[in-house]
Amino acid sequence: MGRIALVSGGTRGIGAAISIALKDAGYTVAATYASNGEAAAKFTTKTGIQAYKWSVTDYDECVEGIAKVEADLGPIEVLVNNAGITRDGMFHKITPQQWKEVIDTNLTGVFNMTHPIWTGMRDRSFGRVINISSINGQKGQMGQVNYSAAKAGDLGFTKALAQEGASKGITVNAICPGYIGTEMVLAVPEKVLNEKIIPQIPVGRLGEPEEIARCVVFLASDDAGFITGSTLTANGGQFVV
Ligand code: CAA
Repeated sequence: MGRIALVSGGTRGIGAAISIALKDAGYTVAATYASNGEAAAKFTTKTGIQAYKWSVTDYDECVEGIAKVEADLGPIEVLVNNAGITRDGMFHKITPQQWKEVIDTNLTGVFNMTHPIWTGMRDRSFGRVINISSINGQKGQMGQVNYSAAKAGDLGFTKALAQEGASKGITVNAICPGYIGTEMVLAVPEKVLNEKIIPQIPVGRLGEPEEIARCVVFLASDDAGFITGSTLTANGGQFVV
């Protein structure tokens, strides 16, 4: 049996591609989902990957859910913090609720998922934490003050925690996907996507979820043991850091 990996938001979009790629690479994978039970059931039937329902916004649910995954599969060695949402809107129009939902999921969710797993990783002197941030956390994006703030926060989280994990055999890295052809991106108004976003991507297309998943497989591998605190950008050249 391979190493145990947990992927939050791992039954749809980029997360599903990550779960599948890790499974194909020999990991025993568990995926979490927050609400779409139908999609999760289909995903499990198709892939054989067990899906667990809880909200990353709730610390106690994370503690309980993680304990269940570990009881079923064993200690989690690879954590992929992928769960994320958008509540886009121009800043003057967004509500405190839209701010809070995005921060709670995309930033606090990363704390809630990592904290209960961290001590075990330290005790076992091995771990891989991979945070899926975003190009928009690097460059900022109009209509996404909430999302950009949370995703930039994930980068700070990654850099700080990497320094704590380094001497304990734990690497902590971030991946910043650009615009990937998932439901989240396809929810952007078609005119905005076609006239404003895609023309800004030098490779001339949206990315594919599998292109992000391959980055995760690399960062999770033993080959990546010297890489920690880093940000891997995969955005088709849209923003060169
Ligand atoms: N890039 C450049 N210009 C943009 C833009 C973008 N991403 N988003 C909006 N604009 C422009 C619009 O084209 C429009 O310009 P004009 O007035 O010159 O036509 C202006 O900003 C106002 O936009 P809207 O008319 O659409 O205003 P709205 O109030 O109806 O909607 C919005 C605002 C909700 C922000 C909507 O424009 C939108 O959804 N934009 C996309 C925001 C975005 O990029 N979200 C990323 C989602 S995918 C994701 O988050 C994954 C990831 O990590 C990359």
